[in-house]
Amino acid sequence: MDPLKAIRGTSDILPADMPYWHRIEKVVRDVMRRFGYREIRTPVFEETGLFARSIGEDTDIVVKEMYTFHDLGGRSLTLRPEGTASVVRAFIEHSLDQQGLPQKLWYMGPMFRQERPQKGRQRQFHQFGVEAVGSPDSLMDAEVMHLFDVIAGELGFDEREYLLNCLGGEESRSAYRAELVKFLNGVKGKLCSNCQRRVETNPLRVLDCKEPDCRTVLESPALPRTTDHLTEDDRAIFEEVRRHLEGLGIRYRIEPSLVRGLDYYTGTVFEMELAGLGAQSAVMGGGRYDRLIADLGGKDLPAVGFACGMERLILAMKKNEEKPVEAGAIDVYVVSPDESSRDMAVRYLSEIRNFGFAAEMDYLGRSMKAQMKAAARAHASTALIVEPGGMASVKDMRTSSQETMSFESFINTLKSRNKKSNQ
Ligand code: HAM
Repeated sequence: MDPLKAIRGTSDILPADMPYWHRIEKVVRDVMRRFGYREIRTPVFEETGLFARSIGEDTDIVVKEMYTFHDLGGRSLTLRPEGTASVVRAFIEHSLDQQGLPQKLWYMGPMFRQERPQKGRQRQFHQFGVEAVGSPDSLMDAEVMHLFDVIAGELGFDEREYLLNCLGGEESRSAYRAELVKFLNGVKGKLCSNCQRRVETNPLRVLDCKEPDCRTVLESPALPRTTDHLTEDDRAIFEEVRRHLEGLGIRYRIEPSLVRGLDYYTGTVFEMELAGLGAQSAVMGGGRYDRLIADLGGKDLPAVGFACGMERLILAMKKNEEKPVEAGAIDVYVVSPDESSRDMAVRYLSEIRNFGFAAEMDYLGRSMKAQMKAAARAHASTALIVEPGGMASVKDMRTSSQETMSFESFINTLKSRNKKSNQ
């Protein structure tokens, strides 16, 4: 029988990698709190129609990357390929606007896209993200970028620069679309067959096609630029976003061909790339989507948000810095010198744990020497060797100094040491 393996494009996150995940999760939770965002968790599957209607019928995600299946009731369901659609669905369903606007929400969890797996591109991956609903102010666009910027800074990324663009409102977008169609019709024969069709159905999607032939065409200097087709009003809003970013000290580069791979964007769009990620360099992306909530049957409310790929962030962290140290290593390793002291060891172990410390012992009947080795391997700060009569030999594993005391006074020292380290 072939050995059982994880499905291609999925991966196990093993204990050795957990310090990275925990570090990100801790920083994310803390920064979200400081910026006033509240957490929301939505199901991992939804009705297929939700994604088709929001991400767009003609996007790569909806056309070829969704994990769609029928349940026993014959409903078409899809594993969420991203978080925005589900958050908006939940926002409408639970009338979250009644809790005051703007509603600033954040989320974290697994997403699913059937893409060709490679470094930094998986079929099950994780995102954290935010959706700020209800404010049309360009300050909100700048705030979500600032929030990510603080997270990235606290995770040790010093060189940060965003790619920024503005798609504008309906008028700007249709002016740009018309120019783009003109250009694409002139080079249609050089496009992949999917994009030849998309020139008619959804020309903006050609801009993020990954086929090499299309990429070559898109490098032409004659490619129309979104920023040349903005109305006066949209241009003014874009200027405001830039002014806020500059005020916050956020570095950006305008990238007029950045349109993002999802259809719901209506104004500012942005991405951030990190060095060392190879072809999959975008670690986060987002933008304004002022039509989506109304399009999905909710009120006419503007919104802006982003999502960050956590696996990509970890790949970049591994290039960037030393492995984060996991808090909560073993405080005490309880050593039983012989069979007769084992029951006492179990009692000590349990008491130490009940007092809130991390404790371990041997479960393999090993010799005392082997137990001391295991204590060192577990990075225990202290080895507690059980002695008769309620006594114990306490070895500081860092200095190797050892003293004998009663178990009771050991617990008291442990508690006072912990109090000091918490001060
Ligand atoms: P997205 O650009 O499709 O945007 O995804 C955001 C991030 O998720 C990417 O920059 C990347 O880091 C990560 N990502 C996407 N696909 C994969 C994959 N197959 N493997 C590993 N990482 C991946 C969105 O999802 C939008 N919902 C963002 C948003 C929120 N816009 C407004 N609000």
